[in-house]
Amino acid sequence: MANADEIALEPPLSRNAGVTPAVEDRSYLGFIAAALAAALGGGFLMAVWMPLAATGAVGGQGRVPWLIQAHGWVQVQGWAGLFVAGMAVRLMPRFAGRPPVGRNVTLPLLAALGLPVALRMTLQPWATGTLAEATAAAIGVLSAVGAAGVAAILAWTLGKGRKARDPWRYFAWAGTAWWAVLAAMLLAWGVRAARNEGLAPVAWDDVMTWVVLLGPIGNFIWSVQSRSVPIFFGRKTPTWRQAVVPGVAYNAGAALVALSLLFEGETAARLSGSGMALAGAGMVWLPVIAGSVWGQAKRLRPRAKPAARFVLGANIAAVVAGVLLVWAGAQTALDAEYAEFAARDAARHVVGIGLVTMLILGMARLVAPVFALERTESGVPKLYERAPFWLLLGALVLRGGSALLAEQISYDARMHSAATAGALAWLAIAIFAVSVLRAVRAEPATRRALETLARK
Ligand code: HEM
Repeated sequence: MANADEIALEPPLSRNAGVTPAVEDRSYLGFIAAALAAALGGGFLMAVWMPLAATGAVGGQGRVPWLIQAHGWVQVQGWAGLFVAGMAVRLMPRFAGRPPVGRNVTLPLLAALGLPVALRMTLQPWATGTLAEATAAAIGVLSAVGAAGVAAILAWTLGKGRKARDPWRYFAWAGTAWWAVLAAMLLAWGVRAARNEGLAPVAWDDVMTWVVLLGPIGNFIWSVQSRSVPIFFGRKTPTWRQAVVPGVAYNAGAALVALSLLFEGETAARLSGSGMALAGAGMVWLPVIAGSVWGQAKRLRPRAKPAARFVLGANIAAVVAGVLLVWAGAQTALDAEYAEFAARDAARHVVGIGLVTMLILGMARLVAPVFALERTESGVPKLYERAPFWLLLGALVLRGGSALLAEQISYDARMHSAATAGALAWLAIAIFAVSVLRAVRAEPATRRALETLARK
């Protein structure tokens, strides 16, 4: 049986008109390594420590506001952003029938995106005075350069590539435009945070989070999923007609959220609230047509099938997060003030741990070349391949559930549940990181075996 993941994501070079076979570029591994370092050394580590610090159980209580903002940024721009940027720059040329992007471009891009994340997780939460101002400005400028670089590479690739009328291409264009918008917002963020000891104003902080999650990250999630996931589950990929209404609602909603920064008071609340509700409605619908929320991964080999569980979990989480966003957004728009913190906090973590993290772990196993041989092996998946799913599910229920119960349980109980969720998620990512390392070490043998198979 044909291998569905290879059909969907790595078309043979003969189908890519005008493409000369290139030496396999492994710089995408640099993006995966940087994303894992940000997650294990920053985002998920802070997810354990910061809630404990907030209750005074460990040191750092006085810096909790900075730690919270650093945690959110490192998770969104580091863990999710670096992974998605690396995979988008690798996969989009393949989808569009263009030559791979060379490492003379990808490596400087990795530096521009990775350096500010490193500064954000080490220096910036602790810096005070002039150092805080300089660090915030440097983070803003560097990450804006990185985001503009991603936008330029993807625009060039999509502009020169096949003009397919497929949803993956429209979502990819939308994601590209969002990377450009993000570049401008990051510069503006740098100026504001530099003026305020490295702490962004609350409105900026909240809007930036949603813009990054919904725009550059979300659109590439729907792009890659719409081209592959329905196939894994034995269904047809969606047509542009099926994707247009939820896709437009989703992006128009994200645009309203971003626009709200230009206003203040009631107008800003009404704009961001209606934007969240609109984007949430799109998010309820998109997993059903572009991803999968039910069924069996019939087209995958037995060894690859457990990875499909992450994909299902991620898409179901997206539906739940969509409902929460519709609720929180509608309340904010009606009340004309920031409302429903509990639902917003739950939604961003159901998106972050569910849609983003589960999908990264599942899709990496299904599409990253480094796991290519493992996918074709016979036998049942090992415990270390199955454990991260259950650990992440535990973290998701604990973190999302305790956020929703914010008004019913004490602050300490919410923070201690968060710390436990953080520990479960950290362990899941650590196990995944070890399996990436093992696969990288086995890669020379993998390559030889695949070449032998191809010659037969
Ligand atoms: C189990 C893992 C995680 C835990 C335990 C955790 C914990 C927390 C806590 C305690 C807060 C502060 C909430 C408050 O203000 O009361 C927070 C905020 C936040 N988290 Fe997480 N988090 C986790 C994973 C993630 C992931 C995977 C993402 C995104 C990919 C994420 C994004 C955010 C964002 C954007 C904020 C808001 C930051 C801000 O206000 O500037 N978190 N998280």
